[in-house]
Amino acid sequence: MQTLVQEAAKIISNSKRTLALTGAGVSVESGIPDFRSATGLWAKFDPAEYATIDAFRNNPEKVWNMLREMDALLKDAEPNKAHIGMAQLEEMGCLHTIITQNVDNLHQEGGSRKVIEYHGNSSTLSCIWCGKKYTAEEKRDEIPPKCQCEKLLKPDVVFFGEAIPVNALNESYQLAASAQALIVAGTSALVSPANSIPEIAKSKGAKIIEINKEETHLTDNVTDIFLQGGAGEIISALVAE
Ligand code: APR
Repeated sequence: MQTLVQEAAKIISNSKRTLALTGAGVSVESGIPDFRSATGLWAKFDPAEYATIDAFRNNPEKVWNMLREMDALLKDAEPNKAHIGMAQLEEMGCLHTIITQNVDNLHQEGGSRKVIEYHGNSSTLSCIWCGKKYTAEEKRDEIPPKCQCEKLLKPDVVFFGEAIPVNALNESYQLAASAQALIVAGTSALVSPANSIPEIAKSKGAKIIEINKEETHLTDNVTDIFLQGGAGEIISALVAE
């Protein structure tokens, strides 16, 4: 593994523009379950029933049963070595931007300044009926949180069936097309359009460094260096190299 880490570190230090695409796996060591591992959130709540915008519109109380669990985990979560290590890489000029699918704000709390959030962020809430906005803090003690119009509020995270924020989409595609290295960490790369980032980067000649506990469909087809193991430990080793 050490030689692979050394090889990955060399690619990153020679790269004029390195990006990262991260998923739930980088926050598992902060106590937030991922989605598709055996102990993931979707093992407990069927995303078709709990994570689509139609499910929320038709039965917000039911969806808040799932969101309540997420909320409890997000509230006390702290950045782990993966988040902190990626912020150090940015500080060292070795990581230009993180494109994250996560909504937990932990990259920012870990010190990263350039973060593109593909699936929104759970720290603000909106009323999909009257449009009023609140911060999650304001409604911390009121679960499920209600709007002044009496309807239930929705976290500003992208549910299945909702569009990705257009500036996140455009900026990430531009960056992916000009990256020389892409670190893909803690994602099963099953959800589009985030999962097109590795292919775009690869097609333009970027080296793909994948960090995951287990192989994904990228590993044999797209990945140049597969660093298998926990994101916290591997990213710390990369920073040290
Ligand atoms: N270190 C490294 N990788 C890990 C760790 C860890 N400690 N723990 C889990 N993983 C890996 C798993 O092996 C898996 O490949 O992280 C990946 C998590 O994959 P998913 O659970 O599918 O999460 P993600 O890829 O972020 O899902 C994408 O799907 O449900 C939607 O909107 C949701 O943003 C999410 C999107």
